Amino acid sequence: MNEDPLAAGAAQPAPAIPYERLGGAAGVGAIVERFYDLMDMDPAFAGIRALHAPSLDSAREKLTLFLAGWLGGPPVYVERFGHPRLRARHLPFAIATAERDQWLACMARALDDSGVSADLKASLMEALFQTADWMRNRAG
Ligand code: HEM
Repeated sequence: MNEDPLAAGAAQPAPAIPYERLGGAAGVGAIVERFYDLMDMDPAFAGIRALHAPSLDSAREKLTLFLAGWLGGPPVYVERFGHPRLRARHLPFAIATAERDQWLACMARALDDSGVSADLKASLMEALFQTADWMRNRAG
């Protein structure tokens, strides 16, 4: 018998937050590792790789911490470094449409390679587009 759980008064499970759906700290960390590995080795992302320091260690750590909070998990970046001021922090780097699109393509590949489901990937990419687009600081 298929009883409607709402009619039966059953508690509805809270919708899983993206951070949990991605596997928490370990899952988010693996996505960020893949993201910077791809940026480092695929010529398609050479343009944005060149904006980064020779070592990607600090970028790996900071993006992992930032995304934890951004995805609904613990606000570990803010605890360690304060308000992210992401747009201001990116101003030293020339980010136009091409750089925005490379960053998003690199992240899309990292999500695919990490086995993120199509529906979760689509909603994350939509939200990431807004953030990446807001980071543009040069015409073109
Ligand atoms: C739009 C294209 C983007 C480009 C080209 C870009 C590039 C960069 C570069 C060059 C750095 C400095 C890394 C270093 O230390 O060498 C950086 C830092 C960072 N980026 Fe981006 N980024 C982009 C978009 C984003 C987006 C969409 C997010 C978040 C969803 C993000 C989050 C961060 C964070 C958290 C840091 C570390 C900030 C800090 O110093 O505390 N970036 N990014």
